[in-house]
Amino acid sequence: MEIAMVVTLIITLLTGFSQEQNLLPPGPINKEVGANVLFTTISSPEPVRAIRWQFNGIEVITYNPPEPETMNPNYHGRVSLNYSSGDLELKGLTMSDSGQYTLILTYQSGLGFQDHTLLQVFEPVIVINITSPEGNLIEYSNATFTCEGNGTISTTVWMKDYKILAPSSSIQFLDDNRTMVISPVKRSDSGNYQCVMSNPVSTSISHYSIVVNYGPDVRIFGAQTLEEGSDILLLCSPDSVPPAAITWTVKGTSAGNAPLYVTENSNPSDSGDYKCTCWNNVTGITTSAVQVLTVRAVSSRLGPGVEAGITLGVTAAVLILVGVIYFLIKRSK
Ligand SMILES: *[C@@H]1O[C@H](CO)[C@@H](O)[C@H](O)[C@H]1NC(C)=O
Ligand SMILES: *[C@@H]1O[C@H](CO)[C@@H](O)[C@H](O)[C@H]1NC(C)=O
Ligand SMILES: *[C@@H]1O[C@H](CO)[C@@H](O)[C@H](O)[C@H]1NC(C)=O
Ligand SMILES: *[C@@H]1O[C@H](CO)[C@@H](O)[C@H](O)[C@H]1NC(C)=O
Ligand SMILES: *[C@@H]1O[C@H](CO)[C@@H](O)[C@H](O)[C@H]1NC(C)=O
Ligand SMILES: *[C@@H]1O[C@H](CO)[C@@H](O)[C@H](O)[C@H]1NC(C)=O
Repeated sequence: MEIAMVVTLIITLLTGFSQEQNLLPPGPINKEVGANVLFTTISSPEPVRAIRWQFNGIEVITYNPPEPETMNPNYHGRVSLNYSSGDLELKGLTMSDSGQYTLILTYQSGLGFQDHTLLQVFEPVIVINITSPEGNLIEYSNATFTCEGNGTISTTVWMKDYKILAPSSSIQFLDDNRTMVISPVKRSDSGNYQCVMSNPVSTSISHYSIVVNYGPDVRIFGAQTLEEGSDILLLCSPDSVPPAAITWTVKGTSAGNAPLYVTENSNPSDSGDYKCTCWNNVTGITTSAVQVLTVRAVSSRLGPGVEAGITLGVTAAVLILVGVIYFLIKRSK
């Protein structure tokens, strides 16, 4: 006998029959419903004489010649045993096959060993639906989103633009993350969200776009003081989703609905309050901003040609200013 075997035999005699030994790779083994599993044994040092497999302590199959092989009737047609290695194949897995499998091997020498491994069977996971509050989402309200799935759901995570969302002062996750509560929702919460459900054998993702309606926040851009003869150019810029409806009121009189208010060749009587009123039809909010404008009389009259030149120059300057500001606003969004 080899020395290793003598040592093993002595250990067996000292500690009793069927000692624990690495016969199976460490588990758990994860499989999907309907799949097959092959429990492969680590190659044995000597020929195998008897094999016993148990599931959660219940007999599956016993091979111990010359006695006839015995098999639990529940496994008929579903298992096959490799008599030389002890490998067991189990076909057509169901959820109830999840559990502990124990292998007891007896070698020709009479030495017996046992080991066990865990099998976990999972239903494939599928995200079915993301549900959101009824109607339009309005800034500063509370909103609850629910991710519905089917199958064995081990984990659920919510992402925004594929970045996992963590709980914060405004986001809460309930019911094993299936429910996401944003309180309150802000305009910055608009965007593309994903709900990802997974288990060790499958993953499913669903997309959801959130639009937070807000505003209008109204600002007016343009000069507050002008020289007589120059053009009045005022830009009303409401920050609003959906876009707000604009109304200009000049010195108490309704004056158009375009974002840009223009009066050419102004004179001191154009001085006064320029009010822009904006209405968001979804949030139902109406907000106004007022620009107080002064058109100064020019005391020393210049020739008509020079005056036209100045007017053009001022107009160009204001247009460029409005353009730059407009661009900056758009870019800062
Ligand atoms: C039994 O297992 C041995 C060792 O893993 C392998 O070589 C052999 O092909 C297997 N036999 C069958 C019938 O699968
Ligand atoms: C998703 O949920 C909504 C709201 O409960 C429902 O109206 C819709 O039919 C669901 N869609 C699917 C595919 O189940
Ligand atoms: C939103 O939820 C917070 C708690 O998270 C609560 O204090 C607040 O009253 C809720 N607001 C609305 C409009 O339901
Ligand atoms: C959910 O899973 C059950 C059982 O696995 C299945 O019968 C049902 O058809 C599934 N429903 C959907 C919508 O996938
Ligand atoms: C819930 O989500 C967090 C990330 O926000 C994740 O770390 C955790 O594993 C999730 N839990 C479950 C049960 O899905
Ligand atoms: C609200 O206004 C937007 C554009 O400003 C328009 O497209 C939409 O149809 C309006 N919705 C309602 C409900 O009036």
